[in-house]
Amino acid sequence: MKIVDAEMVISAVKPEQYPKDTLPEIALAGRSNVGKSSLINKMLQRRSLARTSSKPGKTQTINFYRINKNFYFVDLPGYGFAQVSKTVREQWGKMIEKYLTSRENLKVVLLIIDLRHPPTKDDQMMYDWLKHYDIPVIVIGTKADKIPRGKWENHKKIAKETLQLDSNDTFILFSSETGMGRDQLWDELKKVVS
Ligand code: GTP
Ligand code: MG
Repeated sequence: MKIVDAEMVISAVKPEQYPKDTLPEIALAGRSNVGKSSLINKMLQRRSLARTSSKPGKTQTINFYRINKNFYFVDLPGYGFAQVSKTVREQWGKMIEKYLTSRENLKVVLLIIDLRHPPTKDDQMMYDWLKHYDIPVIVIGTKADKIPRGKWENHKKIAKETLQLDSNDTFILFSSETGMGRDQLWDELKKVVS
């Protein structure tokens, strides 16, 4: 996909602030610090459109990026971040849940997991939850550059088994460092946005 235009439209904390148009939306969910914002930047070949950090908890609002005036990437706060108070964690949880269950424009969720480790309990819960609500999902194992090439397939297998991934769901090996998986993900996303 040729990216001619990418703009941050709004940082929302409640539905009234979501964009009013009806363009398709692709949301990113996953653990704090797993690499959601980095993946958006890599897909767009923009170095720092979405703010990233080596410290977890960088994205704390629902950030809407409008691409080619045609669709949105929706960057969600991460889950499983122990360093914020229980109250704040619950607020983030509610904010994410509200978006995912009520947003008609939502076409697919990219569930981002860390390929280095088996999916966490939170990852498993998120996957089950998305299936329960019948929300289309693509699972992405990112940070592949951090493990040797010879181990990719085995880590992928463990991730799929741990999640009990539905055979109809796509799993993509990815790296925001090297761009691995980028073309494959665009191929999947084109089905959603065109
Ligand atoms: P929150 O906003 O806190 O939920 O985190 P996030 O999921 O948006 O993570 P972010 O994109 O900010 O990345 C977290 C850290 O992981 C940063 O230091 C990134 O540079 C690093 N990172 C992200 N993706 C990759 C990857 O594919 N490979 C490597 N080596 N590092 C990555
Ligand atoms: Mg982020």
